Amino acid sequence: MSEPTFAMLCCACGAEQVVKSEMAGAGWRLAFSRPGFVTAKNDAGAELPVGVFIRSAAHSIGQSHDEDSAVQISALRRQLEEKNPSVLLFDQLHVWPKDRLPIGRFGFEPGIDEVSRAVAAEIHEAIKTQWLRCDLPNRIAQPGDRVLDVVLVDPSHWFFGTHLAHDWPSRWPGGVQPIEPRYEPISRAYYKAAEAIAWSGFDMQAGDLVVEIGSAPGGACGRLLELGMQVIGIDPADMDPRIAAHPRFRHIRARAGDLPRKEYQGAKWLLVDSNVKPDKTLFSIQNIVTHRVSEFRGLLITLKIGDYKSAGLMDRWTQTIESWKPQQVRVRQLARNKCEVCYAVTM
Ligand SMILES: C[S@@+](CC[C@H](N)C(=O)[O-])C[C@H]1O[C@@H](n2cnc3c(N)ncnc32)[C@H](O)[C@@H]1O
Repeated sequence: MSEPTFAMLCCACGAEQVVKSEMAGAGWRLAFSRPGFVTAKNDAGAELPVGVFIRSAAHSIGQSHDEDSAVQISALRRQLEEKNPSVLLFDQLHVWPKDRLPIGRFGFEPGIDEVSRAVAAEIHEAIKTQWLRCDLPNRIAQPGDRVLDVVLVDPSHWFFGTHLAHDWPSRWPGGVQPIEPRYEPISRAYYKAAEAIAWSGFDMQAGDLVVEIGSAPGGACGRLLELGMQVIGIDPADMDPRIAAHPRFRHIRARAGDLPRKEYQGAKWLLVDSNVKPDKTLFSIQNIVTHRVSEFRGLLITLKIGDYKSAGLMDRWTQTIESWKPQQVRVRQLARNKCEVCYAVTM
């Protein structure tokens, strides 16, 4: 009989119920959970769960609760020795806090903070000789790397786990893309676009023509321009002057549905980030991408769910997108998405 699997999962605050329902039916018994953090046990030893709203997943090996980080680290050592005597080395150490607020509330952004950075350094120093191959904590893992995960549910309550890195989110600490923009981004959509592009794996190259619907004020366009692309921004609102004046940028001041199809000719990539209801957004995109002049290879569509109770509507949105006869449709709540999901559609 196979060993039971203990899973520890991170998600956005508010998405826990959807994560739990995504796991339902696969034999998972829910255990400790907090906003943004879910643990569960599977007696049949199932693979780690995957789901649209699961940002990171690891095999849990234990937890510890103490005000003193030295005591916490001793607990980690003990648990590694007890649970994992045969596999002595980890390629990476990832340490991050679970989200403490819904994304964007009071300016909250997910990812490594000052406390988790300090904890990461302390754990690394304490266990590097015996357990780690990495010279620093919180590096981006390579596919195939074994990662030791430490989630700070709060500064005095840590969960320990392990996972094998494979796709991009599983390579980033806590599933949050580490990115240091060269200039102050015009809006947080810069990070959302950067993450969507990396996660999708789309082969977006300098010189490619990309259209963004819902482009103002221009955070995402800033990222696209930084990547060397030719960018058309479609939005009735004003673009930030730094984007508007860029030689590789053209602003079309219009609503997407009102534009003649020829405006999209030659464009390879479409980003959509308009604050319009999903069904209406999909209707406008359908008219554009199913038109005979369309040359789009990939679409990155942000859809606002409204609230997590409406996540069930995603099946309908996916069916609509599939009716365009794409090669592949993937959907994920990106770490930088508020109550939204991102569709990566390969045409
Ligand atoms: C969340 S903001 C976009 C942020 C932007 N992507 C960025 O990077 O800064 C949503 C935008 O959608 C625009 N919008 C709403 N309806 C639209 C439509 N039908 N066509 C194009 N843009 C639209 C709004 O004017 C607003 O600027």
